[in-house]
Amino acid sequence: MKFLVTGGAGFIGSAFVRMLLDASRGDDVINLDKLTYAGNLENLASVTHSPRYRFVHGDICDAEVVNNLVSDTRPDVIVNFAAESHVDRSILSPAPVFETNLRGTFTLLEAARMHKTPRFLHVSTDEVYGSIDAPHEANEGYPLRASSPYSASKAGSDLLALSYFVTYKMPVTVTRASNNYGPYQFPEKLIPLMISNAMEDKPLPIYGDGMQIRDWLYVDDHCRAVLAAIERGRPGEIYNIGGSRALPNVEVVQLILDAVGKPVSLMQTVTDRPGHDRRYALSSHKLMQETGWLAEMPFEKGLKTTIDWYRNNTEWTARVKSGEYQNYYDRNYANR
Ligand code: NAD
Ligand code: TYD
Repeated sequence: MKFLVTGGAGFIGSAFVRMLLDASRGDDVINLDKLTYAGNLENLASVTHSPRYRFVHGDICDAEVVNNLVSDTRPDVIVNFAAESHVDRSILSPAPVFETNLRGTFTLLEAARMHKTPRFLHVSTDEVYGSIDAPHEANEGYPLRASSPYSASKAGSDLLALSYFVTYKMPVTVTRASNNYGPYQFPEKLIPLMISNAMEDKPLPIYGDGMQIRDWLYVDDHCRAVLAAIERGRPGEIYNIGGSRALPNVEVVQLILDAVGKPVSLMQTVTDRPGHDRRYALSSHKLMQETGWLAEMPFEKGLKTTIDWYRNNTEWTARVKSGEYQNYYDRNYANR
């Protein structure tokens, strides 16, 4: 198949592109990415020279770029990973999430409608369900109660994508995944931030009491789930993708400190995130039943693989932390 992947230079998108370009598959990939602070072509160094790969530097909000690309390349499927993906940044500056996540998704949907793209997969998040009280877990019919500008923009774009199925009969599928972790994740998210700070003996900022619960999904399991939804899922449907491993943040950070061999005293309680969702919990039953997908990576093994990757790629981390990163870090953490 010919894939147009957006956001393919980011954390999950690059894992998806690498998976498609693996020798075991024969897909062609066009990667449309704006290369924001989170986009990094180094993540694709292993596939850049593949004859099946093409990179296009552009913005999914730019209708001319998107229309020309879809018209020229006629992809079999568009997979939309491109997003402003971080809750804390969306709290500090809400405008970019609405621009990229809403307008960008709209622009892609319109191009797909105009050119009758045979398949459209929109990558969404479990955060659209908001905080979920124990012992409940969200299935795909659970009400949407987004808490942050990020999750509200994802909920909006996810509903917009589904409306194109209902209204225009476009073959759109939406996936809602839980918290991802793995190699190449930008060190603003919990796991890579804590690994990177621990390795540098810097304080590990724990928001509030650290008892917030997230369901951890290894990035390659997420990518296989997105592919399963494209290949074996149904248009017009939503599929949750959970990691089946719910843990409070402090336990995750403790495991990281143990693995890196650093003391608990590095943990530092800081002012909580405003509107912080207490607990995410997801049922992936529908995807498993309809496509046979299963999360394969056990959390402890995935965490070890991830920590080893950051240990062996300190130059990657140093490069992505140079420049704009320190400004963000100061804005987010200085006054907590
Ligand atoms: P990321 O921040 O690592 O990467 C985002 C990518 O999108 C970057 O390469 C960036 O350059 C690109 N991009 C941003 N704005 C763009 C624009 N206007 N036009 C073109 N490209 C643009 O994000 P990620 O963690 O890889 O997340 C990918 C997708 O998965 C997002 O849609 C996110 O909402 C969703 N998701 C993420 C998680 C998670 O835990 N990270 C969980 C569930 C769903
Ligand atoms: P994050 O990785 O930002 O993902 P999300 O907010 O999308 O779930 O955060 C995961 C959890 O870790 C969340 O409960 C917030 C918490 N957290 C901290 O306690 N300290 C931090 O410095 C960060 C970035 C997150």
